[in-house]
Amino acid sequence: MNDFVTLAHERYSCRQFSDRPVERIKIDKIIEAAIAAPTACDNQAWYVWEVSDPISQKVVRASTPYHFNAPVLLILGVKPDEAGESRLSKVNFADIDGGIVGAHMLLAAQDLGLGALWVGDFNADAIQEAFTETDGFRLVGIFPIGYAADDAHPSRHHFERKAASELCMQI
Ligand SMILES: Cc1cc2nc3c(=O)[nH]c(=O)nc-3n(C[C@H](O)[C@H](O)[C@H](O)COP(=O)(O)O)c2cc1C
Repeated sequence: MNDFVTLAHERYSCRQFSDRPVERIKIDKIIEAAIAAPTACDNQAWYVWEVSDPISQKVVRASTPYHFNAPVLLILGVKPDEAGESRLSKVNFADIDGGIVGAHMLLAAQDLGLGALWVGDFNADAIQEAFTETDGFRLVGIFPIGYAADDAHPSRHHFERKAASELCMQI
């Protein structure tokens, strides 16, 4: 089994997928990992839609150039009205909660031997118009998931992390 830091390094944004279908159990495990994510006040104000109907998949693929024909497409939405809020700063934690849920899904996919990508650049209005189930949510990501293609590789960005000294200090 991977230790966590190794898993975190090995995860990369996969943009080349094979046609190999993803086992149901693996999709369920990704959702289980999402549910395990912490959220402010434990409000769990998020939802994932698994886009399985071929017509629905077409709509979602049309909403972004970054779907890479992955066999699995998940959409993550957060509900600001129901999310926890800081009493002191009034910050609404919906997007932060969504970020943690999304990170759990990406890392779970990696742990299960799958490739995955967080797509933030998509036409959310087009999706919300097509799927009324998403009413009241802010859509924060589309997650193409599947087995990485033989030629899949990380982009150069994956290797361009700042040094710890640039990102962290003792105060
Ligand atoms: C919130 C968020 C939105 C992103 N949106 C996109 C996107 O729309 N298209 C894309 O190709 N990659 C997207 N990415 C992937 C990033 O470009 C990628 O994580 C970054 O370049 C680091 O590379 P790595 O994930 O391979 O380590 C997104 C990542 C995050 C966290």
